Amino acid sequence: MKIRAATPDDHDAINEVILDAFDSSERAVVAKVAFDLIGDATAQPVLALVAEHSGKVGGMILFSRVWVEEQAACSCFILCPLGVHPAEQGHGIGGRLIEEGVQRLQSLGADLLFVLGDPKYYGNHGFSADHNYEPPYPLAYPEAWMVRRLNVNEHFGRGGKVRCSRSLESEELW
Ligand SMILES: CC(C)(COP(=O)(O)OP(=O)(O)OC[C@H]1O[C@@H](n2cnc3c(N)ncnc32)[C@H](O)[C@@H]1OP(=O)(O)O)[C@@H](O)C(=O)NCCC(=O)NCCS
Repeated sequence: MKIRAATPDDHDAINEVILDAFDSSERAVVAKVAFDLIGDATAQPVLALVAEHSGKVGGMILFSRVWVEEQAACSCFILCPLGVHPAEQGHGIGGRLIEEGVQRLQSLGADLLFVLGDPKYYGNHGFSADHNYEPPYPLAYPEAWMVRRLNVNEHFGRGGKVRCSRSLESEELW
């Protein structure tokens, strides 16, 4: 699998991966959020990567902008969504998509990467729920709200309330 930046031509393949990877109760919402984010001026820069093998897209990941209130200098992103086609799961593709994204965000000077997801999975990929960053909305499972530090500087540890882009503003998404 090669990891590369997504192009507009990948639209259908990304949609297909999301619909196949996610549970029927959430796939339509996840696909909508992904494409809303890609076109959302308030979420830029958006980084979309795909994992491709022999011309077939088997995984996708999206990173988009969020902010910590009163910390304008802190460059923050959120990972959402990440999906790997069921036939390709368990071969490290999800982890490679995360690490490629992290490297690209680090080269942009990003400081923090948030995720709302399974603590067991993301805990194995450098994310931790041990922080002082408040999510945009109250959560049923606060331990699913995690952060990964991307650069060593004074921003980490200050904490604060996280604000999200327009595409993620709907409370039901949290
Ligand atoms: C979660 C997901 C992206 C992982 O992709 P992947 O390429 O299979 O992941 P990797 O190969 O890097 O890692 C596999 C490991 O993660 C574990 N894992 C996979 N999904 C997990 C989950 N939801 N919770 C906990 N662990 C999980 C596997 O058991 C495996 O563990 P092992 O290495 O100890 O055997 C993929 O399973 C998926 O698309 N799931 C459906 C959509 C989803 O839940 N996306 C994440 C929320 S945004």
